[in-house]
Amino acid sequence: MSLIDSKLKTVDDGIDDLFTHLRGRDSGGIYDELVPLYMAMYSADSRIHTQMSMVAKCARPTTAKVCELGCGHGALLSHLQAEFPTVIGVDTSREMCRYASDTGAVIRSTAQAIAPSSIDLTAAMGTTIGHILPDQRLTETLDAIVTHLHPGGKFICTLHDTRSLPESHAPPYERSQTTTTERYQIRQHDHRKPATNGEFEWHVKFDVTRRSDGDTVTIKNTTSLRSFRPTQFRHWLSEAGFEQIQTYPRRVSGSTNGPARAFVASAEKPA
Ligand SMILES: C[S@@+](CC[C@H](N)C(=O)[O-])C[C@H]1O[C@@H](n2cnc3c(N)ncnc32)[C@H](O)[C@@H]1O
Repeated sequence: MSLIDSKLKTVDDGIDDLFTHLRGRDSGGIYDELVPLYMAMYSADSRIHTQMSMVAKCARPTTAKVCELGCGHGALLSHLQAEFPTVIGVDTSREMCRYASDTGAVIRSTAQAIAPSSIDLTAAMGTTIGHILPDQRLTETLDAIVTHLHPGGKFICTLHDTRSLPESHAPPYERSQTTTTERYQIRQHDHRKPATNGEFEWHVKFDVTRRSDGDTVTIKNTTSLRSFRPTQFRHWLSEAGFEQIQTYPRRVSGSTNGPARAFVASAEKPA
């Protein structure tokens, strides 16, 4: 059984708790109280393999020390560990770190916690950068990444693409997806409502159905996120001191033709 499969075995225990305690009251954060639901929805092998292949493509043959910023519950960490000698996960969420910590070295902190010139490659996948608001915090984070990379070190991340958000007067972007665990069926329905300056609200609703008796609990959460245009994010990277900046659309397996919802950015700290 893979590590992620064994993590998913424990997810049902977490969902049992949510099922009992969230009936009729507001939910906690998607990266705090709702982590078991996040794990159930965002652990698909195809998703993690896509992330891993983007990181592997960005790495140099000499890449040895890797930092994953916003490592979440650690699904990518285990793959990074199989590929690189030293891997550290960093995440601000206590619950995410708790689930990730059985994968390897994880610290509950930010990019600022990593020692200067100690890392060959930093990856921030799963659009983690979009959670770092406002501008001042993003500036500090990108500066910290430049500082903790070795000269010549690389950075790769994925970002929500502003161009894929609906115009503010248009109907919100909506999507539904369903997954099944041993004891539950989870239907996630999300919609995104753009605000200004690329920021948007991610409204998510989970209908969690206990498979044994069909009882269903609905859990809702809203998170503020930020999107970018590729030219705009290249400017952010350049201002932080990065060079060799590249952006390209993120294509996920099984996606249809429309515009990519996210793009990939990679860059290097000057040697
Ligand atoms: C969308 S999740 C992505 C998790 C994982 N990388 C994935 O792809 O499933 C974003 C993660 O970033 C974390 N996060 C938010 N702000 C952060 C920051 N400033 N530094 C490190 N992690 C952060 C959140 O706690 C959350 O686990």
